[in-house]
Amino acid sequence: MGRILGIESSCDETAAAVVEDGRAILSTVVASQLDVHARYGGVVPELASREHLRAIVPVTREALERAGCGWAGLDAIAVTQGPGLIGSLLVGITFAKAACLARRLPLIGVNHIEGHIHAVMMEARMQGGEVELPALALVASGGHTHLFHIDDQLRYRLVGKTRDDAAGEAFDKVAKLLGFGYPGGPVIDMLAPLGRAGAVRFTPAKMKGNELDFSFSGLKTAVLRWVEARDMTGEIAARRRMVADTPRPTVEQWLSVTPPLTLDLLASFQGTVISELLRRLEAAAADTGARSAVVSGGVACNTGLRAAAAKLRLGIPIYFPQPALSTDNAAMIAAAAFVKLGRREFAAFDLRAQAGLTLA
Ligand code: KG4
Ligand code: ZN
Repeated sequence: MGRILGIESSCDETAAAVVEDGRAILSTVVASQLDVHARYGGVVPELASREHLRAIVPVTREALERAGCGWAGLDAIAVTQGPGLIGSLLVGITFAKAACLARRLPLIGVNHIEGHIHAVMMEARMQGGEVELPALALVASGGHTHLFHIDDQLRYRLVGKTRDDAAGEAFDKVAKLLGFGYPGGPVIDMLAPLGRAGAVRFTPAKMKGNELDFSFSGLKTAVLRWVEARDMTGEIAARRRMVADTPRPTVEQWLSVTPPLTLDLLASFQGTVISELLRRLEAAAADTGARSAVVSGGVACNTGLRAAAAKLRLGIPIYFPQPALSTDNAAMIAAAAFVKLGRREFAAFDLRAQAGLTLA
């Protein structure tokens, strides 16, 4: 038995969750800072730390209340150790250490990327199944695009990663360039189905060396060149005004400031990102003999990616977590920690935040 309080504060979400045995989410609370950062077109680290400080106590209290267990019902506290923004990580880690000390609970440090992977495994268990190992895991978010092989002992081997921008970062940068605000993924996802995906041709990235590595900066530059070759200043300014005046514009509102050609651009950009991601997953599946594949991280919310993955003939099942478990949350941290609780892999009180922590 293991009831774990998970705490996540690596980027712009303050989250706490209580998960039992890595399979039952008793509560999950996420306080998003999107509204704080949206006007700056990206996450401002100093503001993120300040917001985490404000949110960490009420968010944790709410998670414990909703779980109906209180501190006394916990077996351990797990916290994201990295990768992420150092000041943001420190808030979660310091709070988790203090709580462990006060409540005499063991502390478990979790890698954020491993958390994203465990989100999928937990959800499979919640539905009475199990992700079969060895597996491939594609983690695509605003900060990382990594492809791992996971063996039957849950050991990770990195088989490919981005050499420049992360997939979510490409969505965010293209959206910012076109005046769609931050974060870019959800808006582009919403509008891409209204454009023609083959209308603008982008060259697939050719990787020297490891062909399973990713690259998205060339695609971002190609979009920039396409925009520079046309006069789009008027529509971009109109969308920036929309972002400033309207908290969450609807499709209709976006369409009033987005001509069909721009929708074609969005559809083609998204289509290229999707094919770049799935091409590597397909190649890795053929190479490694994995028995299943999991896709996680914020970009796993993308409806176009999910639809394209469903049509792939990989020969192995592909699992996506529900959107609330794809983006940053603390249930995934508690789920990843359950394995470590079983192995009694506890962290010492000098556990440090590691901005560049790697998984493999
Ligand atoms: O996992 P996450 O919440 O935070 C990080 O660890 O980075 O991922 C956030 C990223 C952002 O770049 C955001 O634009 C992207 O995920 N994202 C999406 C979608 N929803 C969020 N990208 C494409 N389609 C979406 N529906
Ligand atoms: Zn993440």
